Amino acid sequence: MDLFEYQAKELFALYGVPVPKDKVADTADEAREIASAFAAEGMSKVVVKAQVKTGGRGKAGGVKLADGADDAYAKARDIIGMDIKGHTVHRVLIAEATDIKAEYYLSYLLDRASRTFLAICSVEGGVEIEEVAHTNPEAIARVPIDPLAGVDHAKALEIVRAGRIPPEAEEGAALLAERLWAVFTDEDATLTEVNPVVLTPDGKVLALDGKVTLDDNAAFRQDHERFADIAAADPLEARAKEKHLNYVKLDGEVGIIGNGAGLVMSTLDVVAYAGEDLGGKKPANFLDIGGGASAEVMANGLEIVLSDPAVKSVFVNVFGGITACDAVANGIVSAVGLLGEQGKPVDRPIVVRLDGNKATEGRQILRDAALPVVEQVDTMDGAARRAAELAASGAKGA
Ligand SMILES: Nc1ncnc2c1ncn2[C@@H]1O[C@H](COP(=O)(O)OP(=O)(O)OP(=O)(O)O)[C@@H](O)[C@H]1O
Ligand SMILES: [Mg+2]
Repeated sequence: MDLFEYQAKELFALYGVPVPKDKVADTADEAREIASAFAAEGMSKVVVKAQVKTGGRGKAGGVKLADGADDAYAKARDIIGMDIKGHTVHRVLIAEATDIKAEYYLSYLLDRASRTFLAICSVEGGVEIEEVAHTNPEAIARVPIDPLAGVDHAKALEIVRAGRIPPEAEEGAALLAERLWAVFTDEDATLTEVNPVVLTPDGKVLALDGKVTLDDNAAFRQDHERFADIAAADPLEARAKEKHLNYVKLDGEVGIIGNGAGLVMSTLDVVAYAGEDLGGKKPANFLDIGGGASAEVMANGLEIVLSDPAVKSVFVNVFGGITACDAVANGIVSAVGLLGEQGKPVDRPIVVRLDGNKATEGRQILRDAALPVVEQVDTMDGAARRAAELAASGAKGA
């Protein structure tokens, strides 16, 4: 799970990573109130920052300096509602404006390629870091970290010096690096990034920005629920998750159900390919029902897929293995019955392709059941094409 900047900063503050004073606002009026309270404490200059889970906010006009409460109101009004790389801004962070002498870069991440943790540090931080990575890669130090030894003060100094951070900022940056490592490990993050780390004219070093990705596999031992972005979660995905289904909503018209992630991925490809000639029909979702395709799992899967009003046809693509095709065929027949009993009759065509273990038996079961909504096609390409055709014609029943 990726965090918003304001959430990342909340964690930073908890672990003693120095950050400017800030507060999040949902409306321009709130932004004015916050800025006015800051001004009362002697901080009249604030920065209004779009809270979206994407980089390059500054360059997109989502980070603006404001002088006083009225200006903060105006800037917040400009920024809220803005679209930054496809993300709509719903909230802004009002942060105390910091005087900046220099901007550096520091991050920790899980480097899967070299199977270790990595610190990345550079004296050339700020909004042009991607540019630096292209034109001057030597300016960016990559320091591997032994997970058992972690980052103590000596290691932190090594990282900071490798990044060529000047002596005047060395101690402050090393302290920040040590504490950022605590966030990384104790919170089970796969990324903690600060760009920029700034040096102020009076010699302080602090984190002006924060990007954190938490490892969802560690959710069971963490209190990360509080960061969940409920507003952004797709309601169908949320329901699928409750039913322990591996479902991802996409924006096409052909519902997809398959067994095994690899098969489902290639099913998405063949459907998209077949749909190209049919006015651009595309897969509506990813759904892997896994090994045990019981009637209940199949019913849950069909129910979720058919709850998506964009779905015009469904393609069930199964390669029988340990769970043989006869079991899957029985699952489909019972699922269609079950949904009917639940008052949610299947009202769109289902194209089924069965292959592999006990395919012949499975196909016979479906033929015997003679369900009007089910149509069988024996090849994957043929079935993909048929499902895309049905989606294009919007046919009801087969
Ligand atoms: N509190 C602050 N006080 C003064 N300047 C700030 C403050 N916060 C941000 N800035 C300035 O705005 C720039 C962009 O801000 P920030 O890095 O938070 O957003 P960003 O553009 O989304 O970053 P990134 O490209 O790393 O995702 C910073 O490099 C810094 O110069
Ligand atoms: Mg930044």
